[in-house]
Amino acid sequence: MTIFHLSTECYPVAKVGGLADVVGALPKYQNKIKDVNAKVVMPWYNKHFVYDYDFEIVFDGFIHQGSNMLQVQVLKETTDVLGFELFMVKIPGLLDRENPYGYADENFQFLAFQHGVLHWLSAMKIRPDVLHCHDYHTGLVPFMIENCYEFEFLKGVKTVGTIHNGEYQGMMSWDMVSYMPAFDHYKWGLLDWNGLINPLASMIKCCGAFTTVSEGYLEELFVSFRGLESLVREEFSKAYGIINGIDTDVWNPQTDPMIDFNFNTKNVLKTKKKNKIKLCKEYGLNPDLPLFAFIGRFATEKGADLLPDLIWRSIKQSFGGLNIMVLGSGNAYIEQQLRELNSVYSNFATDIGYKEHLSHKIYASADFLLMPSRVEPCGLNQMYAMRYGTVPVVSYTGGLRDTVKDITTGGSGLNFTYPGVDDIIHAMSRALNIYKDKAKMDELILSNMKFDFAWEKSAEKYLTLYKN
Ligand code: ADP
Ligand code: GLC
Repeated sequence: MTIFHLSTECYPVAKVGGLADVVGALPKYQNKIKDVNAKVVMPWYNKHFVYDYDFEIVFDGFIHQGSNMLQVQVLKETTDVLGFELFMVKIPGLLDRENPYGYADENFQFLAFQHGVLHWLSAMKIRPDVLHCHDYHTGLVPFMIENCYEFEFLKGVKTVGTIHNGEYQGMMSWDMVSYMPAFDHYKWGLLDWNGLINPLASMIKCCGAFTTVSEGYLEELFVSFRGLESLVREEFSKAYGIINGIDTDVWNPQTDPMIDFNFNTKNVLKTKKKNKIKLCKEYGLNPDLPLFAFIGRFATEKGADLLPDLIWRSIKQSFGGLNIMVLGSGNAYIEQQLRELNSVYSNFATDIGYKEHLSHKIYASADFLLMPSRVEPCGLNQMYAMRYGTVPVVSYTGGLRDTVKDITTGGSGLNFTYPGVDDIIHAMSRALNIYKDKAKMDELILSNMKFDFAWEKSAEKYLTLYKN
C-alpha cells in the first residue's frame, strides 16, 4: 500500500510545532509495517536540510494560477536519512521561502502547493493508494482530485484528512476561486462554508475519512469547532480519533544528543538533577527549588496569556519557593511582559524564540511541565515531558485528558478543569506537596518514564482505517 502524506511541516526539515513531529515520525513507523510504503510531500523551504542532504529533480513542469504561469519542480531527497521518501515541491516566488507560515500571500502558496502536487502525480501517472492530507493547508486536495478536470487520472484515489488543529481553517473569499484549477462550478457547495471557501470544511465534506489527533478532541469538536460543529455532526460516520505517538528514537533521554547528561530509568533520579543544576546555573535559577516549565507557542489556545499573571502570583505567594522557566515565542505583548518579569524576579527565567536544543534540555531538567491550554487537539509536550521524567500539570482538555490522568485517580500527572490562574495555582500547590514527598515524587518520575506512547499502535490504527 502506497501512502503519500501531504503536509506543510515535517521534522527535521521544517518545524513550527507538533504537526512537524507527527509527519516526521508517523510515516517512518508505518514503513515498519509489512507492505506499507509511506512517503511525505511538502513545500520546498530555504532551510539547512535542503543543503545538507542530496536531492534530485524528479519533475519539472508548469501550472496556471489565474493568469500566472508557475514553474513547479519536485525534488526528491536521495540521501535516505528519514526512514521515508521525501519530496519537496518548489515553486519559485511562492514555495522557496524561509518559513512555512507568516506571509501575506499564503492562500496563493497553499493553493499552489496542492495544485502542484496533484499536477505532478497526474503528469507522472503516479496513483497512490491513499493521499493523507494534514490540516487545512492541504484540505482542498480531496475536492480537487474528484472535481478538477486536470486531475482526471487521480479520480477515485482514497483520501484521509487529519485535523491537527481546527482553530485554523484557512477561510478565503470566493475571489480566490479563479486561482484554483478549473472544476464544474455547480460543485461550489463542496468548497463553501458560510459564504467563504473553507478548506478544512471542504476536507471534511470530500475526504473518505477524517481523523483528529485524539479521541477527546473529536468529542469536543461536536460542540465547539469555530462554526463547523454541525458539519462534523453531519459527517460523524467517517470521523475517527487516533491519538498521536511520539518518536522514541528522537525523544530518548538515554541517547538524546541535545541534552547534557543522558539518563534512563535506572539512573534518572541522580542524573536528571545534574541536567537541572546545569540549566539553572545558565539561567540564574536556584537548582534546590522545584522547577516548573512551559514550552510552546504564545497563543491563547495554549493559555500563554495566563503566564504573566500566573508567574507573578505564584512567585509572590511563593508557597515555599519555586522556579519557573518559559521557552516560547508568539504574541508580542506576552513576550514583552515575560521579559519584564524576567528582569524583576530571580526565580523566573525566560528564553524567547524557537530553540529545539533548549526544549530538550528543559524536558530533561524540569520537575513539572505546565500546559494551561484552552484547546489542545493532542499535545506532544506532555508526552515528551513524561518520557524525560517530568510530571505534567495540564488542563483537562482534548488530548491532554486522554494522555494525562490525575494522580488522585491513579494517574501520573495533575489536572485542572478550568484554565484560569486560580485553578492552575491550586494545581501547582498540589504539585509542590508531591515534590516535598520524595518517595512519591520519585515513584511518579519512574512511572512516567515507563509510559508507552510509541507510534506503533496508532500507525496500525491508521492502516486499518486506510484499508476500510
Ligand atoms: P503545537 O503543535 O500546537 O504547538 P504540540 O504539543 O503538538 O503543540 O507540539 C509542540 C512541539 O513544538 C513540541 O515538539 C515542542 O517541544 C515544540 N516547541 C514549541 N515551542 C518551542 C520552542 N519555543 N522552542 C523549541 N521547541 C518548541
Ligand atoms: C497541533 C495541535 C497539537 C497537536 C499537534 C500534532 O499543532 O495544536 O495539540 O499535538 O497538532 O498533531
